Amino acid sequence: MSHSKDSDELVFFVNGKKVIERNADPEVNLLFYLRKVIQLTGAKYGCGGGGCGACTVMISRYDPISKKISHFSVAACLVPICSLHGAAVTTVEGIGSTKTRIHPVQERIAKGHGTQCGFCTPGMVMSIYALLRNHPEPSLQQLTETFGGNLCRCTGYRPIVESVKSFIPSSSCFQMNGNGKCCLDEEKNEPEKKTSVDTKLYEKKEFQPLDPTQELIFPPELMRMAEDPQKRVLMFCGERTTWIAPGTLKDLLELKMKYPSAPLIIGNTSLGLDMKFKEVSYPILISPARVLELHTVTDTKEGLTLGAGLSLTQVKDILTDVVSRLPEERTQMYRALLKHLRTLAGQQIRNMASLGGHIISRLPTSDLNPILGVGNCILNVASVEGAQQIPLDDRFLARLPDASLKADQVLISVFMPLSGKWEFVSAFRQAPRQQNALAVVNAGMRVVFKEDTSTITDFSILYGGMGATTVSAKRSCQQLIGRCWDEEMLTEACRMVLEEISLPASAPGGMVEYRRTLTISFLFKFYLDVWKQLKMRDPRGYPDISKKLLHVLEDFPLTIPQGIQSFKGIDPQQPLQDPVGRPIMHQSGIKHATGEAVFCDDVSVLAEELFLAVVTSSRPHARMISLDASEALASPGVVDVITAQDIPSDNGREEESLFAQDEVICVGHIICAVAADSYAHAKQASKKVKIVYEDVEPLIVTVQDALLHESFIGPEKKLEQGNVQSAFQCVDQILEGEVHFGGQEHFYMETQSVRVVPKAEDKEMDIYVSSQDAAFTQEMVARTLGIPKNRINCHVKRVGGAFGGKASKPGLLASVAAVAAQKTGCPIRFILERGDDMLVTGGRHPLLGKYKIGFMNDGKIKAADIQFYINGGCTPDDSELVIEYALLKLENAYKIPNLRVRGRVCKTNLPSNTAFRGFGFPQGAFVTETWVSAVAAKCHLPPEKVRELNMYKTIDRTIHKQEFDPENLIKCWETCMENSSYYSRKKAVEEFNQQSFWKKRGIAIIPMKFSVGFPRTFYNQAAALVHVYTDGSVLVAHGGVELGQGINTKMMQVASRELKIPMSYIHLDEMNTVTVPNTVATGGSTGADVNGRAVQNACQTLMKRLEPIVSQNPNGTWEDWVNEAFTQSISLSATGYFRGYKADMDWEKGEGDIYPYFVFGAACSEVEIDCLTGAHKNIRTDIVMDGSFSINPAVDIGQIEGAFVQGLGLYTLEELKYSPEGVLYTRGPNQYKIPSVTDIPEEFHVSLLAPTQNPKAIYSSKGLGEAGIFLGSSVFFAIADAVAAARKERGLPPIWAMNSPVTAELIRMACSTSGF
Ligand SMILES: Cc1cc2nc3c(=O)[nH]c(=O)nc-3n(C[C@H](O)[C@H](O)[C@H](O)COP(=O)(O)OP(=O)(O)OC[C@H]3O[C@@H](n4cnc5c(N)ncnc54)[C@H](O)[C@@H]3O)c2cc1C
Ligand code: FES
Ligand code: FES
Repeated sequence: MSHSKDSDELVFFVNGKKVIERNADPEVNLLFYLRKVIQLTGAKYGCGGGGCGACTVMISRYDPISKKISHFSVAACLVPICSLHGAAVTTVEGIGSTKTRIHPVQERIAKGHGTQCGFCTPGMVMSIYALLRNHPEPSLQQLTETFGGNLCRCTGYRPIVESVKSFIPSSSCFQMNGNGKCCLDEEKNEPEKKTSVDTKLYEKKEFQPLDPTQELIFPPELMRMAEDPQKRVLMFCGERTTWIAPGTLKDLLELKMKYPSAPLIIGNTSLGLDMKFKEVSYPILISPARVLELHTVTDTKEGLTLGAGLSLTQVKDILTDVVSRLPEERTQMYRALLKHLRTLAGQQIRNMASLGGHIISRLPTSDLNPILGVGNCILNVASVEGAQQIPLDDRFLARLPDASLKADQVLISVFMPLSGKWEFVSAFRQAPRQQNALAVVNAGMRVVFKEDTSTITDFSILYGGMGATTVSAKRSCQQLIGRCWDEEMLTEACRMVLEEISLPASAPGGMVEYRRTLTISFLFKFYLDVWKQLKMRDPRGYPDISKKLLHVLEDFPLTIPQGIQSFKGIDPQQPLQDPVGRPIMHQSGIKHATGEAVFCDDVSVLAEELFLAVVTSSRPHARMISLDASEALASPGVVDVITAQDIPSDNGREEESLFAQDEVICVGHIICAVAADSYAHAKQASKKVKIVYEDVEPLIVTVQDALLHESFIGPEKKLEQGNVQSAFQCVDQILEGEVHFGGQEHFYMETQSVRVVPKAEDKEMDIYVSSQDAAFTQEMVARTLGIPKNRINCHVKRVGGAFGGKASKPGLLASVAAVAAQKTGCPIRFILERGDDMLVTGGRHPLLGKYKIGFMNDGKIKAADIQFYINGGCTPDDSELVIEYALLKLENAYKIPNLRVRGRVCKTNLPSNTAFRGFGFPQGAFVTETWVSAVAAKCHLPPEKVRELNMYKTIDRTIHKQEFDPENLIKCWETCMENSSYYSRKKAVEEFNQQSFWKKRGIAIIPMKFSVGFPRTFYNQAAALVHVYTDGSVLVAHGGVELGQGINTKMMQVASRELKIPMSYIHLDEMNTVTVPNTVATGGSTGADVNGRAVQNACQTLMKRLEPIVSQNPNGTWEDWVNEAFTQSISLSATGYFRGYKADMDWEKGEGDIYPYFVFGAACSEVEIDCLTGAHKNIRTDIVMDGSFSINPAVDIGQIEGAFVQGLGLYTLEELKYSPEGVLYTRGPNQYKIPSVTDIPEEFHVSLLAPTQNPKAIYSSKGLGEAGIFLGSSVFFAIADAVAAARKERGLPPIWAMNSPVTAELIRMACSTSGF
């Protein structure tokens, strides 16, 4: 931060310690300051745009008027440090630590198994902590709203929610389970306990109570600062921007006059995004936060006048209070605002964003402006020249200059009138996700009737999401004045609105037809709502509306999951010391929760360390004519620009280059990298690199384009059994179709991260990387630099989520950083921003499935001919393996006697797709379930009957001729049927559907056969190293990487059992390539299986060596034996090795015993859909999984739940959007929606099947990392069932195949042909 003599000292507190910053730069945000300046790395970077909550901290302020201290959570990534003058910041480090005492929130999240990778955990902890500071006994509703701003990609939220629910007093619970019992009352909720079935994953009684007196006090010095009457203007001068903070209105208005183009900055949630993502820079920012007039509240009998500087949370609290005091008819607009204030953004953003900032930003999808606009609100503005009132109307919202604030004017407050008796106001919104997602379309609607009649005297409608600004249906509304509120008026209104609110086919944001449909869906809902209220006032004056229609008026409730997890209890005879089979907390759980767990970017910056920012191609397919980096090189702080010319040896592998050389083959192709003294400098300079392109034909983006141009990677793969050709001759019916399956972004919370530290001697290098495959990273770096692998040590302490996305890509990124390190001689830190990560690294392969199915009228499928095409992107990566997996696993649970499947990888100009949890199975098996459902529909049979009919029943062979026993498949299916009460609930669903026209329910049960492992023998090997020290402590190292899946916890359990010592003796440090060489990627659900065997092997070797000593001194202690061994010169260090399973596939013959074992499962899901908007609610899911003997039921159930929720996202929510030229639009959590807490089934039950033998895996366990993702498809098929019910009732033909993900748009459009 640069220094200016005009700058004031910025004073604030962090965790009780005073911070004086003499060089405060307005462009520096709190997250950066905490992490890089004062080395508090608990708060994490997940997106930088307020959308994920990983950076959550608490801010406390003292209000000198009310003499109260307020505490609120914020997204530190959007808080400019200059806004903190006089504030106290509390970070996760400030509330508890392993060195002092851990806070009850930290304890409960960790012990309740609410952490996996732990990257989201500090943010979660701080959100909950801030809630508890304000409400030590929070309600479930407050908890639900608090969670909305925090994303977790690993856990599926259920364990987090459950552990934190323990703070809620049970009397305030409003969420009842299906039996009408309180969700907090665990004991009562449990199903009838069968002997030896356990449902307790942790002991609540162990939790320490919350003691508010233990919290940090607010610094008295800050109170004195706030009381200071001087109110002088503060100024903070940065490198490019000056921050001016007036203390009085007079100073504010004078400043605004002097700097009319300087924006006012309050929450920074709108300006901040522009500065960050649109590269907007302001020389001057004026902060009016200290001006009292902007925070006043006036309550008169006409209405409320709220200061423009109040936060949206404060507005919500004020409105809640007024609404509770006044009659409903007076508070119509306030109620409408409150409805949206619960779901608008996340809690942190609502705490930061101001009413004034929201209104003045006039974002096209603003949720509040349409309501404030129809509510006839008035803006009280002021300038040096005086005060003025501006109507907050359609003209203001359309940004017409004569209806807007002048450049020197400031919004002081907003008048919000109370409503009249015959006035009705409602608000509507439809967003990709219930909470924390910008609306696709929203609306505010208001109608006023002549007293005691239904004759319209005033009518206004404003829509968001239908253009570049909020738009008004003014013409239509005016023409309807004088009309009666009846069906005729409604029909006319819909016609006119559709005409008036036009949206060109090429409108930005797409979904044109859907958005148009929503405008009239909302109008219809408003019509019904008003009708209902009129009728309540005068029951005889209005004809009845069928109850069947009124259902749709109830919005889906915001709920958080609750459920039961059952598993086999431990054998009571098992020694207490032996932890195997027990639900042990994640080894790093407490450290995750205190922020002490160190991730790649948490390590302090070394002297001379440089930061890297990449320049990527903006063209999908082009020749590079020139690259001019001169301006970038001359930029402040820049040390070098690294290009392909700087690579000493290989530029990448196969067709995947590190840096593009002459040609770019996708948008996002790395061209060069800028190394500078800070990331900000590197990033600024990267924008100055000039590249001239010449486009090259053809441009191939989709699978269809690739088929047209015959653009493929590798040959076609094929599997076949029976005689498909002739089977088609003897079937009753044949069905043909195709289905599209969209890709998926990994969205690991920790973006790709690597640090390279060159050593002084022998070209050695230390690489610290967030990778699933350290050995591959080592190999790539060695190849790139042209040095032997023995000079490169790759270290992986832990990874903040990976899901397949950190298998191959970190190798490339580490090599880019290594070239920079070698060229500059400096350590390099290369952390991808979320947007770059999503752009550059690819994801799950989209798939096009074509099918031809021959079946009998009873539903028996005799023949299937399937073709898969996956979009591999621009390079091979793992695509050929993915298509192999899709083929090998496509049959899922079904025996199709005559089956042919062919698959090809399409080569396109998209970033290269890569490994992703499930690896082809979630795509391939989804296509299978699609055609099985289609057969059922064609035969007019229940889908579960057709599934049962075609399922494997006895010992048989898979399509690749591997023998297996489906006994546990059948058991899972039957148990799931029973646990979910499938048939009675199906009946209830049918009854509901008869009673409801616009809302429909659906239920589906899906079986699963998942084969574990890699079909390559050498891929299943593993090694370990175990040292015993003379004090008895044990150090375990193994070749697996801790990705959050709990592998280290399980390895400690294995070592503990084998060495017969408590887990507290055992330590597991990092994984690195010096300790365990030649490892394979951690993935494919085999990590614990194979590394467990290796650890077991090492421990058994050691025990064998100790055996004679033990038998000589059987009553000795572990320490005695170890010391004796040392004295006898017996080695106390052993390597362990596991050769793996034989798993080679003969593709010529289509045969191979490639999988060590199968994981079976079944899931039943129930949903409700809103046919008018396409929204859906996940009501309940029951999963039964065959985990055999679980080494750690908490970890395994966590994997099942987390994978299921990722699958739920895959099949119903997550949509990657590209331009026709292959430019990815969805580059962060604000555009790409992974499930948030309220997307999880309200009831979510998981049970593990009773253990059976699985001799192939350690202790008869099974790898459960991936399987659950496919079970998310049960939600998809439940939605399809609900859509089918809607279509049937409307007389529409059935749809055989719905594409995935089945978004709200798809659901809405599938429920009708047009309009309603
Ligand atoms: C992650 C995220 C999610 C979001 N989700 C939603 C959502 O679901 N629905 C929704 O409606 N919105 C959403 N938003 C937008 C959010 O509501 C707005 O960004 C916010 O209300 C702006 O307020 P602010 O105080 O942060 O404004 P700032 O960013 O501080 O300022 C915005 C603009 O307002 C001007 N301004 C501010 N105060 C005054 C004043 N008193 N007089 C004159 N001009 C003034 C400034 O000059 C500036 O141009 C989201 C934002 C984020 C970051
Ligand atoms: S990093 Fe701040 S919200 Fe995502
Ligand atoms: S534990 Fe939440 S993102 Fe990994």
